[in-house]
Amino acid sequence: MELQKIIDKAKIAPRRLSPRELEYLLSLESEEEQQLLFDAAYQVKLAYIGRKVSLRGLIEMGNICAKDCLYCGIRRGNGAVHRFELDLDAVERMARWAYEHNYGSLVLQAGEVESEKRTELVEAALRRIMKLSNGELGVTLSLGEQRDEVYRRWHAAGARRYLLRIETSSPDFYRKLHPDGHSFFRRRRCLYVLRKLGYQVGSGVMIGLPGQTAAQLARDLRFFARADLDMIGMGPYLPHHATPLGRDIELTPIYRRRQLMLGLKTVAACRLYLHDVNIAATTALQALAPDGRERGLLAGANVVMPNITDTCYRKDYFLYENKPGSDENSAESLAAFERSIAKIGEDILWGEHGDSKHYLSRTATE
Ligand code: 5AD
Repeated sequence: MELQKIIDKAKIAPRRLSPRELEYLLSLESEEEQQLLFDAAYQVKLAYIGRKVSLRGLIEMGNICAKDCLYCGIRRGNGAVHRFELDLDAVERMARWAYEHNYGSLVLQAGEVESEKRTELVEAALRRIMKLSNGELGVTLSLGEQRDEVYRRWHAAGARRYLLRIETSSPDFYRKLHPDGHSFFRRRRCLYVLRKLGYQVGSGVMIGLPGQTAAQLARDLRFFARADLDMIGMGPYLPHHATPLGRDIELTPIYRRRQLMLGLKTVAACRLYLHDVNIAATTALQALAPDGRERGLLAGANVVMPNITDTCYRKDYFLYENKPGSDENSAESLAAFERSIAKIGEDILWGEHGDSKHYLSRTATE
């Protein structure tokens, strides 16, 4: 296969690439070819979005989790984690800080809990955020699998976007990573329900999981197209020593570099394949290299989610170890972030929702 031909074909229109072509892009080894891929993806991003970065202030609302995912540091079975849940006033305070600092949107994220108490807490938080911002802040939820009725109530209370990573699009691999009985099929159905309820829907996978192949990642990208997603959040897998999957993995420089490059290649291939979706440059990229997020933006991503949770909670929200920014406060994170964006010649979209172009065009024609 020839790289330039695949790139030319991908640029003409979205969703053109075959599974084998996607796999080829994800398998590129030479630095020169990888750079060609990143540059091509950046050009596609420029055509749809321009030199612009959308911000979401991330509030980590709580780390109590009913699930026992083999890769995750806050899995139910990790007894060493100090569990917390923010109360309404704390969420409101962090949201107000974001509003006053001209953030256009927020993400409320937490471990997966299904209960009436949780449902009501989120509803109340949404109402307070709408009130304090005169309805201006766009709110994305990232609160896991819920009953249809719960999604409906949160939408009615003002949430407009939902992130629910499928983690892997292979039901067999999913079962291996989640042996505690939770179902790939329920998770996938949630994505369809969210879409039907009118949410902008985001999903994604972890990149570079032990046992994952490039062919599988290529199928993940095809899954994103089939699910007609509006937003993609993907990040490299990072080991956590207190988890079954990460226990024996050593974070060597070679391993870090491989995860980083695979992460960047997957972001770039995703942009070349889907064109108009929002793609996040995730914190996991930054965990592998200090400029990982910026490199993600230069490989086709257009969204960054700076953590705006109070510093005192951050060390309890380690999905993986070496998570960056855990000893910074939100103002410091913001200042460092602004400098790094200016350095790569991009502009931050202050005060804007930064809706997915894909969502806007699919709802305009529906
Ligand atoms: N490395 C990278 N990402 C992880 N997540 C959970 N554990 C890890 C890990 N060890 C991701 C999952 C989840 C999101 C909130 O964090 O994809 O959906």
